[in-house]
Amino acid sequence: MSRKPIIAGNWKMNLLQSEAKELFEGIKGFVKDYTAVELPTIVIAPVFTSLAAVETVKCDCGCGGNKINIAGQNCHWEKSGAYTGEISVEMLADAGCSYVIIGHSERRQYFSETDEMINKKAKAILAGGLIPIICCGETLEQREAGVTDSWIAGQIKAALEGISSEDIAKSVIAYEPIWAIGTGKTCDSDEANRVIAMIRSVVKEVAGAEAADAIRILYGGSVKPSTIEEQMSKSDIDGALIGGASLKADSFNEIIAKTMKLVVAAK
Ligand code: PGA
Repeated sequence: MSRKPIIAGNWKMNLLQSEAKELFEGIKGFVKDYTAVELPTIVIAPVFTSLAAVETVKCDCGCGGNKINIAGQNCHWEKSGAYTGEISVEMLADAGCSYVIIGHSERRQYFSETDEMINKKAKAILAGGLIPIICCGETLEQREAGVTDSWIAGQIKAALEGISSEDIAKSVIAYEPIWAIGTGKTCDSDEANRVIAMIRSVVKEVAGAEAADAIRILYGGSVKPSTIEEQMSKSDIDGALIGGASLKADSFNEIIAKTMKLVVAAK
């Protein structure tokens, strides 16, 4: 496995500060026995008000890596100003974030986020030295109409427009079929792998082979401890973006443990 896997927990609009703290401590307690070299890249994305209840956990083995990284669930592309209810990249960095999830289907669907806005956000995140986790995915209607690949290729091209190959290489993409999010209906792993390989070929087209080889592309949609091993065994799936199963330390830690075994086995 040449790309380091990512296990990212998207806590969505859940958990009060005390609950976020408890979940964070549960994950921290698990990772303490391992180094960042052994662990996948772990990212957690709490609500903004709980960013103060979590923190980046640095590894002390001398590798310079982090055991736990923090992400924002959204951001605005402007640095500051009259944008009521919004948060800037600099503010997220100031609150300890090193990643930002953008273009989640819930934001596209309920908050009218467009490809153009997602592209502006991606550029602002990279300019601020953080890493975007760019989400894409098709609806059930689009899948049934046979337009999955062209739809997703369009989302990816629009999101990456005008971004350098170097910045694309360090970015993260999450393929999340909308019909699989929070429904318990996981996408068949071979099919998820096929779509992710297609996304990688789109990245190759816009940013070259090196960026396509380096970029980490995750699967998201009803990932559970019982599905992760099969998903991670696929050639192009570099990790998971997890909603429901990231809200309990037991299930999230089990997903990390199972992914970690694969990292160790691949050495
Ligand atoms: P889920 O959510 O794991 O609850 O399906 C995934 C996501 O929306 O990122």
